[in-house]
Amino acid sequence: MEIERELYQALTEILMRAKDKFIERKSEEMKTSWWKEAVVYQIYPRSFMDSNGDGIGDLQGIISRLDYLKKLGIDVIWMSPVYQSPNDDNGYDISDYRAIMEEFGTMEDFDELLDRAHEKGLKIVMDLVVNHTSDEHRWFVESRKGKGNSYGDYYIWRDGKEDGSAPNNWGACFGGSAWKFDEERGQYYLHLFSEKQPDLNWDNPAVRREVFDMMNWWCRKGIDGFRMDVISMISKTKDMPDGKLKGLYGDYSPYCVHGPKVHEYLQEMNREVLSKYDLMTVGETAGVTPSQACLYAGNDTHELNMVFQFEHVDVHGKYGKWNSVRMPLTKLKEILSRWQRELAGKAWNSLFWDNHDQPRAVSRFGNDDPKWRVLSAKMLATCLHMMQGTPYIYQGEELGMTNYPFHGPEDFHDIESIHAYEEWCRSGIVSHEEFWPCITKVSRDNARTPMQWDDSEQAGFTKGTPWMPVNPNYREINAQAALKDPDSVFYYYQKLISLRKRYPVIVHGEYKLLLADSEELFVYERALGNKKLLVVCSFADKETRFEMPEDFAGGECLISNYPEPGKDGKLQPYEAFVILM
Ligand code: GLC
Ligand code: CA
Repeated sequence: MEIERELYQALTEILMRAKDKFIERKSEEMKTSWWKEAVVYQIYPRSFMDSNGDGIGDLQGIISRLDYLKKLGIDVIWMSPVYQSPNDDNGYDISDYRAIMEEFGTMEDFDELLDRAHEKGLKIVMDLVVNHTSDEHRWFVESRKGKGNSYGDYYIWRDGKEDGSAPNNWGACFGGSAWKFDEERGQYYLHLFSEKQPDLNWDNPAVRREVFDMMNWWCRKGIDGFRMDVISMISKTKDMPDGKLKGLYGDYSPYCVHGPKVHEYLQEMNREVLSKYDLMTVGETAGVTPSQACLYAGNDTHELNMVFQFEHVDVHGKYGKWNSVRMPLTKLKEILSRWQRELAGKAWNSLFWDNHDQPRAVSRFGNDDPKWRVLSAKMLATCLHMMQGTPYIYQGEELGMTNYPFHGPEDFHDIESIHAYEEWCRSGIVSHEEFWPCITKVSRDNARTPMQWDDSEQAGFTKGTPWMPVNPNYREINAQAALKDPDSVFYYYQKLISLRKRYPVIVHGEYKLLLADSEELFVYERALGNKKLLVVCSFADKETRFEMPEDFAGGECLISNYPEPGKDGKLQPYEAFVILM
């Protein structure tokens, strides 16, 4: 009897402890997974809203539009960089990480934005650009003075070859060599982007300490996370051999992307900063594969919450990224479905069609002809927001904003497009006639024209002259018109976001692709417990046949972009709907 009682007690104890552990783990999961349920809205501050008429968007402008974002229903705002910067690459070249760019306002404006956003239940995620700084950053100004001083080793300096030429053949992302000779120091420094963006030397523990201190400083202010710019490039190999020729220069990626210590450094960052706060983190990791993503953003790898992968927006041709080819739908589906499958249960996806570096989603993946623009924008939104992962909306996407009708190379503002035109066209590698449709299709400037608020002069973005021209279609496509029209793209996004809040299957359900071979339809299922979703999206500009799977007969239609979804076994051009069973 005695033994049985003791055994019973011991067992009960074990069970209770297991239950406590389970609850602890569950609540830990709940605490840290708000970013799975969230929808993120990306703001490119320079082009969002100008409050003082200087033609440049600013923090007060953002504050003035928080109610608009609240109305849309998003949870998180990711702001492209707002730190002090000489703007060689629009803020991605930072000269002081603890100051606000003068054109955008002051630190008081920032604090006000953070408070006002928090009051409204909106979170603020900062862009963290720490692969490189501006050459005007104090660290670089000191570093170039010579090897001796304490900043001497903050950047990647090398002697030239015997003949004085650059240490190797690597090309920079924005054209030209990745090395620049510095007269003052008498050595070359590495810049994977523009020559005003020298790469930091992450192998120097002092650099890492500075970066982590700075991050802690922002976290203590109360920000809600970081989007980490080209974070997969922070660790470089020690020896830096010539790369395989790609056009005029060699490819640095095998030596600089997903480098030897990148995971070690991110785990250190997690220990020193991220783990101490309740944050959302997303790493920009071009060239990442799903298995690498499971390291960067694995459930238990203690690095980041998620990464941006770029396979679905990468179409490379004769002129590198510059081409006007549309990815076949079967390929697009294969890529996105592979990411869904391979991250399931191991890591978390981020979902996006566009951002400040990509052309406009509706122009690239949908159809920006006025006849189809609204329908195809809604279809794309359905397709993306019903997948597993955290959806990102880029400013203006919720209005179906389109690419810009460039007239000539003098219309470019972006350093990348300007240099690419120089390198490919002016050098005579390719004719203007051939290159023009390529560069205009994918130029980053497409995404950077001012936000279209209303049909007044300059689309209500500014009372002055905008730093970049407004897309002439602002008289039809603008927020004011969208808010007046119950059938607008805006309200469609609003509904998608509210569905996400209501049906856990949209956030957590398992994904299964159907009709993989169709070049016209993107159809998939999601399943969680006894709930199932069918997501049907037509990428065709004409009517197509579609037979509703039997197990969805009689299901409830949650959202659709035509009044009678799937009528008569047919789909209308760009039709999309979601059925819940
Ligand atoms: C990232 C940014 C891009 C920037 C580059 C260099 O790709 O998104 O806008 O030019 O990094 O910082
Ligand atoms: Ca301004």
